[in-house]
Amino acid sequence: MAVVIVVGAQWGDEGKGKIVDLLTERAQMVVRWAGGANAGHTLVVDGKKHVTRLIPSGVLRAGVTCVLGEGMVVDPTVLVDEVRGFRAQGFLARHQDLVVAARAHLTMPYHREIDRLRDERPENSIGTTRKGIGPTYESKAARTGVRMGDLLHPERFRGQLARQIEHLMPLLTALGGAVPDATEIAAHYLALADELRPYIADASKLVHDAIVRGDNVMFEGAQGVLLDIDHGTYPFVTSSSSTAGGACAGLGIGPTKIDTVLGIAKGYATRVGGGPFPTELTDATGDLLRKRGNEFGSVTGRPRRCGWLDLPALRLAVRTSGIEGLALTKLDVLAGLERVRICTGYRLGGATVDEMPLDIDDLAAAEPIYEDLEGWPAAASSDTPPSATKAATRFVARVGELLDRPVWATSWGAGRSETILTYDPFAPDAMV
Ligand code: GDP
Ligand code: IMO
Ligand code: MG
Repeated sequence: MAVVIVVGAQWGDEGKGKIVDLLTERAQMVVRWAGGANAGHTLVVDGKKHVTRLIPSGVLRAGVTCVLGEGMVVDPTVLVDEVRGFRAQGFLARHQDLVVAARAHLTMPYHREIDRLRDERPENSIGTTRKGIGPTYESKAARTGVRMGDLLHPERFRGQLARQIEHLMPLLTALGGAVPDATEIAAHYLALADELRPYIADASKLVHDAIVRGDNVMFEGAQGVLLDIDHGTYPFVTSSSSTAGGACAGLGIGPTKIDTVLGIAKGYATRVGGGPFPTELTDATGDLLRKRGNEFGSVTGRPRRCGWLDLPALRLAVRTSGIEGLALTKLDVLAGLERVRICTGYRLGGATVDEMPLDIDDLAAAEPIYEDLEGWPAAASSDTPPSATKAATRFVARVGELLDRPVWATSWGAGRSETILTYDPFAPDAMV
């Protein structure tokens, strides 16, 4: 048995969904610990595309329990939509296939509105997904939150809702937002509660029991380490803890229960929204990566900014999440380039630094230092995957060497089979 945390090691969209889907073949439980419907994880199985937003990416595996943990913020409208969509396709067949923490906080329509109104103002725009994530966490920290479990107690729910609206009215007024209709919101949310009732439970306790029972449990990170509220590129971050430690805090699971941490990174870098991005490519190569990698947000459809692989950023991720092994994805996207660059450090104020500085001005001033590697050709056919070339193997080995971490998996396409797994943390003895 093993308890494994998977984190995105960049700014999100590293291909976490694909790798989690693959590895949950041997898992009994997959748990999300933070964030909400800002996440979009794409799984491609048998040529069919599925996108998860709130539900963990183990959803396509029969018998795997998907858990939305206490640290998450849940928009019940999105959740009900997602549950209906997956159930209609035969997934989540048993009610015990899904658990939603009673103590997870609810995103309300006015949280989404505040997020949008703020982000529309150029002076404080950080390019959020506008799904109400920041404002929901603000309500939580202000202790005026409304939680999933409140939905099961209509009177309590109405009282909490009124209190939260009263608390947010000055902000809504200042932003020019509409006055929320508490009666209408309560009617809508309590109707959704009827559908969600079977899933609402003490997630912390259920996950703990699974670990004690000896199940293989995977914690699936959303977003990426560089978007972490404390250890990311603040203020261009999300409002939760996307580093591995967030898994323990978000579920109330002790760090002594975790066996290992897997970090996922693309073979290049992308970022959606604002904020410094030292290796960004604003030229034809950037356009090529965006096009070939289909780098458009699965939640908002926004084009993702693209750049070369940034090792100072990955070193920060490795350190702050205790990453023990890496998965490198989207290596097929780099195929066909004559040379592939890796940023090995930054030049900053006359010095060389090897880890991403988090002071926003330093980060904006950091100049990447590159190492150039020979590119590899695009696959001529499925019999000769790009992974078979020496240059591609050298690239993977070099990244592992520079980060001083083993590469446990490489990914050469969106499908399950387009993956080379050299170490499976759920089957450590079975692998080469
Ligand atoms: P996540 O948020 O980390 O789960 O990543 P997203 O699903 O938002 O974005 C990753 C995108 O790349 C998805 O569309 C995946 O289907 C796709 N993808 C994942 N791995 C690979 C790969 O190795 N090659 C290619 N071409 N696409 C991949
Ligand atoms: P997954 O799980 C990429 C980014 C937003 C914005 C910042 C704050 O699919 O990797 P928020 O709505 O969270 O307040 O936005 O964080 N962001 C993501 N970028 N992938 C994600 O999730 C993201 N979730 C948030 O673009 O820059
Ligand atoms: Mg995504």
